[in-house]
Amino acid sequence: MTRHTPAPIWIGTALAAALLLTAAPALAGPDAKAKTPDPMQVVRGAKAWKNNCGRCHNLRSPKELTDEEWDVSVAHMRVRANLTGFDERDIKAFLKASNNK
Ligand code: HEC
Repeated sequence: MTRHTPAPIWIGTALAAALLLTAAPALAGPDAKAKTPDPMQVVRGAKAWKNNCGRCHNLRSPKELTDEEWDVSVAHMRVRANLTGFDERDIKAFLKASNNK
């Protein structure tokens, strides 16, 4: 990206900010909203959700909550249900991939 005419300084700043915003989800790791979630993780999550999340109450539909709400709720339910961190991440990947939010 070389420019031949000198650009105002704010353009560089805006570009850097935009790059940071784009890179942030990748830096945040697998818990961040992935546009292309690992399909096998979603499949594992669907199984773990079916096997665990209906034990104490009706199975909650992924569409009930947003990504942010699932983060909170699944962390809460992980403690209740005694799930492993692996299960928690898989279940969140499945719920987030299935809620369109
Ligand atoms: C050990 C029993 C148990 C299991 C297993 C369980 N839950 Fe729950 N869940 C509860 C109870 C009890 C509540 C009522 C709120 C509370 O007191 O924690 C609840 C409430 C909820 C709520 C309402 C909002 C909230 O966060 O309180 C959601 C959504 C939910 N559960 C989703 C799930 C999902 C998803 C799973 C699977 C990862 C799951 N639950 C597994 C016991 C369980």
